[in-house]
Amino acid sequence: MDSKYASEPYRIKMIEPIQHTTRAMREEKLSAAGYNPFALRSEDVYIDLLTDSGTGAMSDAQWAAMMLGDEAYAGSRSFYQLEDTVQSITGYRYVLPVHQGRGAEHVLLPALVNEDKRWFISNHHFDTTRAHVELAGARALDCGIEEASQLSTYHPFKGNMDLHRLKDLIQQHGAHRIAGIIMTLTNNSVGGQPVSLANLQAVSELAQQHRIPLIIDGARYAENAFFIKQREDGYRHQSLHAIARACFDTADVFMMSAKKDGLVNIGGLLVVKDDETLFKTLQSRVVPYEGFPTYGGLAGRDMAALAVGLEEALEERYLTHRIDQVRYLADRLSEANIPLQTPPGGHAVFVDAKAFCEHLTADQFPAQSLVNELYLEAGIRAVEIGSFLLGKDPDTGLNLTAPNEFMRLTIPRRTYTYRHLDDVAEALKSIYRRRHTLRGLKIIEEPSVLRHFTAKLSYL
Ligand code: F0G
Repeated sequence: MDSKYASEPYRIKMIEPIQHTTRAMREEKLSAAGYNPFALRSEDVYIDLLTDSGTGAMSDAQWAAMMLGDEAYAGSRSFYQLEDTVQSITGYRYVLPVHQGRGAEHVLLPALVNEDKRWFISNHHFDTTRAHVELAGARALDCGIEEASQLSTYHPFKGNMDLHRLKDLIQQHGAHRIAGIIMTLTNNSVGGQPVSLANLQAVSELAQQHRIPLIIDGARYAENAFFIKQREDGYRHQSLHAIARACFDTADVFMMSAKKDGLVNIGGLLVVKDDETLFKTLQSRVVPYEGFPTYGGLAGRDMAALAVGLEEALEERYLTHRIDQVRYLADRLSEANIPLQTPPGGHAVFVDAKAFCEHLTADQFPAQSLVNELYLEAGIRAVEIGSFLLGKDPDTGLNLTAPNEFMRLTIPRRTYTYRHLDDVAEALKSIYRRRHTLRGLKIIEEPSVLRHFTAKLSYL
């Protein structure tokens, strides 16, 4: 092991066996799953890189905290522990637990939409965020920087908002018609790429000038803070807590899928800086959708584990190893000339399936074909982030074409070792040598929203 990559800052005291399968078994399982690995059983998967969401390992301190969870319906001690932690990290006043990130989206986004305010602008809406914007009767505009689509050129903050376009969009639609600006940290859909603090501050200034609420979708805010510390001038000697706080200072509302940088298997947060009226509206929406405001769909023990996880996720040694694992996998693939987005982001390696499968067009879902091939080759499950996921235009019903066709190799937190990542790299190298044989796919069954979870496909 190369010392370029930090070794695990923990030892393992509980293990979960994983199974190897044969190619014949995998062919049968994938066919039965309609060529959509979301429909596979996890026991038929050897290394699961579908998502980093809720798939991480908790620490001994988190398990210990769970035993002390207070399961009271109202006023749980665990809620107050969580509230304290969130207030101290964010500096925000009002804390509402929710069952996961999309719970926060469901409570918040419709509350900001009315007859006039029907647009959201983001550095990139995550797919559930976009779905909730559309379900609320509003429309989502993505406004990331051009450099994000240049996959092989270096840019330290490919997750940034394009400030010129943002100004144009505000002018074009009218500030009074923008329901909110959403900054996704890190920017999942464009590769888990970070956003600089300077960019956040510039967006914040514009938002304040136009009285538009600024929302941080901060599922991976700790990873984002780590990148700021590493790459942005002036932050190398600041603590991750201080950097995270400076990020939160720019916004009005923080929504979080705690299944990522909360280091828990389930949970979410909706946090309001100081707007009491907005908080009261959200609180009254939490009750019917999520639960009483001091549990919001979580058990007391879930909140207790989250209070500890939020602190652990800001530890420097933890984050160094986390980001190094992603970089390690990217480096192994780059050595074999496998086309990737560079530099890699915080939670995943994004393989450029358009370049990998040059012979396939976007409507043949090249990244989905590659995802399927990786499962067949080695029992490794990845996920498509491209035209299959993007779905259809809600107004025209036509298939949209994604700017990139990515296969995301998402690394769960504290779960796999570097040796597992070698297996992933070897499997992909073997597919790369016969990449011209990969076949395109077509959809044979799909739901109207978030189709990638349940659609069925067949080979052309
Ligand atoms: N926002 C971002 C940036 C996300 O990445 C996710 C989930 C959500 C919101 C929704 O949160 O799943 O807790 O309801 N991302 C997962 C992923 C599913 O695989 O990237 P949730």
